[in-house]
Amino acid sequence: MHALHARLPKNFILEERLERFANFIEPAPWTLKGRWAEACYPSLGIVNDFEDVLNNTDKCSKEHSVKKPARFDAVHLDLGCGKGVFTCDIAVMHPNILFIGMDSEPICIAYAAQHASKAKLDNVIFVPGDAAKLSRYFSANEISCIHLNFPTPFPRKKECTKRLTHAHMLNSYREILAPDGLVRLKTDSIPLYRFSLTQIESAGYKLRWKSDNVREMLPNDPATGYELRLTAQGATVHGYEITPGPRPQSIELDMSMSLIDYLPEDLSELDYIPHGMQGTVTNLRNKRLRSKNKQI
Ligand SMILES: C[S@@+](CC[C@H](N)C(=O)[O-])C[C@H]1O[C@@H](n2cnc3c(N)ncnc32)[C@H](O)[C@@H]1O
Repeated sequence: MHALHARLPKNFILEERLERFANFIEPAPWTLKGRWAEACYPSLGIVNDFEDVLNNTDKCSKEHSVKKPARFDAVHLDLGCGKGVFTCDIAVMHPNILFIGMDSEPICIAYAAQHASKAKLDNVIFVPGDAAKLSRYFSANEISCIHLNFPTPFPRKKECTKRLTHAHMLNSYREILAPDGLVRLKTDSIPLYRFSLTQIESAGYKLRWKSDNVREMLPNDPATGYELRLTAQGATVHGYEITPGPRPQSIELDMSMSLIDYLPEDLSELDYIPHGMQGTVTNLRNKRLRSKNKQI
């Protein structure tokens, strides 16, 4: 059983929660492809006057005004949003932006929708979906910013393409990002961060900034659920902001794909073990100890 399921409260019935907070969940994201900013606008059906026409027209003579559908100014995607703590908190700060939280775990979506409902937000929607299928859910240029907050590290080589910062993933984000769109990474994991930096150029992206202390760099950004938990355990937040450049003809990947190779050589240097790598680090420490003992 998934660790998340094991921790569920006794009275948690997934279907019941999804139904109760259905106003904050879009179960068929492909139906909104290309029209998220309009379709999720709270006063859907109400129309605004074009500002320029308003400026030249008697505001009282409605018959002279030109109408356009009301829409959000921009759409941001919180990919792998977990329980939606960051999604909801950043949405409060930017009421003109639609924040879409997506997670492959329906339980996370249920919790996130409950959070948005409690906070009475009207610029947040949660989507149960997989990062590998983004072009089914969104049109070209539709997304201004993709937030990758504490993505699952998938340390093993055979799972590397599931990492949300893998060059093939970055390449798929290009299909939905605006030309000046951004991908912003935050992670507690130095190995994942180092690996992620190697993917940027291969995917034809440009680095806008990188940091070993994102909390200091972006002090006004709300903390994510994992950030609160992991920084309390001694983590610091590493991250970057990148933007798509010219599309590469092919994606060359000659770097190491196992996160083990991005750990420090001396594991005793590691005073904080990144989330999701406890098993990997323990196995590696034991393996090195065994081979040292054999040599004696
Ligand atoms: C470590 S949690 C971080 C949650 C949240 N972003 C935070 O910082 O608190 C990673 C989340 O990513 C989700 N996830 C992993 N792979 C995914 C994928 N391919 N598509 C969508 N969500 C994914 C997991 O279900 C999990 O909820």
